[in-house]
Amino acid sequence: MDAVVTEFRVEDRDRWTELWTAYLKFYKTSLSAEIFDSTWNRMISKSGTLRGVGIRETESGPLLGIVHYLVHETAWTPKQMCYLQDLFVDPAVRGKGLARTLIETVAKNAKELDCYRCYWLTQEENTQARILYDKVGRLSGFVRYDFDYSRPVQSP
Ligand SMILES: CC(C)(COP(=O)(O)OP(=O)(O)OC[C@H]1O[C@@H](n2cnc3c(N)ncnc32)[C@H](O)[C@@H]1OP(=O)(O)O)[C@@H](O)C(=O)NCCC(=O)NCCS
Repeated sequence: MDAVVTEFRVEDRDRWTELWTAYLKFYKTSLSAEIFDSTWNRMISKSGTLRGVGIRETESGPLLGIVHYLVHETAWTPKQMCYLQDLFVDPAVRGKGLARTLIETVAKNAKELDCYRCYWLTQEENTQARILYDKVGRLSGFVRYDFDYSRPVQSP
């Protein structure tokens, strides 16, 4: 399948909203309209480090897949690291290499930014995504924890 990868364009807003909504639904969650506005505006204006790229069949065609990413500092090297987030491809066009192309594009952009690493997280049971990740990535072996703010802190 032919594919064109570009940064998001202002006219992609509605289609991006559909695809990100579907991504969130896949993870059984949703976000407010305010968050959609904020995230879109930050990517389009490039006011911070959050970026987004989309993939389409033709230059002027609708988005078929999206990915968000950002770079951040790390204590381990003066170089930046690239975190890839929210990869989603329209179910009608899966298995055609679009997600692979999106990941490779982010990795290439990270390389151009002289990033030390490009990494991402997924749920252990996301077997479909992990078929692809096992082909393009290397499993780190790290496990993520989030601090549990609902528990009382027991500092000495
Ligand atoms: C995971 C996801 C992004 C993959 O998108 P995709 O465009 O279908 O993936 P690709 O076609 O680029 O897959 C690349 C490789 O993985 C293989 N692959 C992908 N899905 C597969 C499946 N269901 N069964 C077997 N192989 C599969 C492809 O054959 C391809 O291998 P090849 O390049 O060696 O031929 C898509 O399924 C999706 O959006 N899922 C829901 C959201 C999600 O899980 N996002 C990731 C969250 S971390």
